[in-house]
Amino acid sequence: IEDDWPGEPNDPFWSQQLDLAEEELRQGAWPSCEQRASAMELKGSARAQYVVAKCLDLMAEAKKDNRLLSRAIRAYVELLKMNERLSDRKLVEIARRAIDRIQFRGTYLNAEPVYRLLIRRFPDNVHYRNNLTVSFLMANRADLADTVLKETLKLWPNDRIALAHYGFVLKNQFNKLEESVIYLQKALEGDAEAANEPRFFYHLGDALLQLGRLKEAQEIHEKGAKLGHFLSPEQRSLYNVARLKSRPWWPIEATPYVKLVRDLENSWKEILKEGLAAKELFEKEKEGLKERGEWSQLDVFVRGQEIPGRCKRAPVTCSIVSQEASARCRRGQIKFSLMEAGTHVRPHVGPTNCRLRMHLALSNTKDTYIRVGKVTRQWELGKVFIFDDSFEHEVWHNGTGSRLVLIVDVWHPDLTAAERKTLPAI
Ligand code: LMR
Ligand code: MN
Repeated sequence: IEDDWPGEPNDPFWSQQLDLAEEELRQGAWPSCEQRASAMELKGSARAQYVVAKCLDLMAEAKKDNRLLSRAIRAYVELLKMNERLSDRKLVEIARRAIDRIQFRGTYLNAEPVYRLLIRRFPDNVHYRNNLTVSFLMANRADLADTVLKETLKLWPNDRIALAHYGFVLKNQFNKLEESVIYLQKALEGDAEAANEPRFFYHLGDALLQLGRLKEAQEIHEKGAKLGHFLSPEQRSLYNVARLKSRPWWPIEATPYVKLVRDLENSWKEILKEGLAAKELFEKEKEGLKERGEWSQLDVFVRGQEIPGRCKRAPVTCSIVSQEASARCRRGQIKFSLMEAGTHVRPHVGPTNCRLRMHLALSNTKDTYIRVGKVTRQWELGKVFIFDDSFEHEVWHNGTGSRLVLIVDVWHPDLTAAERKTLPAI
């Protein structure tokens, strides 16, 4: 540990103890290193505090122990409180490691005081403010992100990253679509290197779609696809495996799921009964995808896991889907979807290209329509169709009565067994 540290102990004995602790740190003797460097007599020495933090950090990493990691983080934050006496270089190095560990631990709000220090020390560096914004967004605190963004944009009105995040917050937190479009457009216009991210293109396109500005949405989707942010202008999922075959509608015979389809079709009347008998369990759709009407769902499996008790309510449904391993897809759901007459679900895309979506039509399908990509189809009672919901799709119920379908997501057939096991759930 080169360099001068503030608060070096005056007493040669304690100075020597600290050298010893440092040696123990180098040799991986972490518990005794931590104990030695934590001595009362060494309080106020930045070097001692650094050795303590580093010991805890390395020990936490080696033992994969979150409690040690939290202690390490606290020790780094404690060290950073001596910031006025730390050099720029040291402050940045320690702050970076502290933030890295905080993010790894997932306690994003704890990064705030660290970023505040960096912002105070380097007031001209917009980077730290933008990273604080991201931390707040990761912690689901768009309200806090909003405050930082407003300050940032006052100082840097043309900063692309801040503009893009502000547009994102306006859209997703405050539902201010027009304003959100203005900020996102400004962030992405020209060859905006800095904010050139798939999610910003996605949200700009989605806001434009919601506003009914279809031509502008199409332009953004084309530009996003050209830049490699989307698989194609129509297929705009953000969590993708690149080589999978892309097609909006899948003929049943083009999939390995013919048996599952036939089993579902053969039992459709029982499945319908199970769906209707569980009516009190349906929940309103919460993603804000419908432009008008009523739409509710009953989850049976989510991310490949049964919602406890649901298979008792839908035993036939569960026994059929349980015979196909691919229907325990951790990037999808199995659910009943109930849509009232007069509903319009606006154009949207699912999150991933790793699943195909089956619909088994169960009731009131007359004058109901689903468009996937460019092709619009109708449900047929007791029949299954299969589409890829990472393509833009849109649904209308222009008929009467409640339309019920069973939705079964299955792994995309091109995924390997290893991928099905290791892809993070969605
Ligand atoms: C969708 O993914 O949007 C559709 O499956 C919804 C539905 O119930 O038709
Ligand atoms: Mn959908």
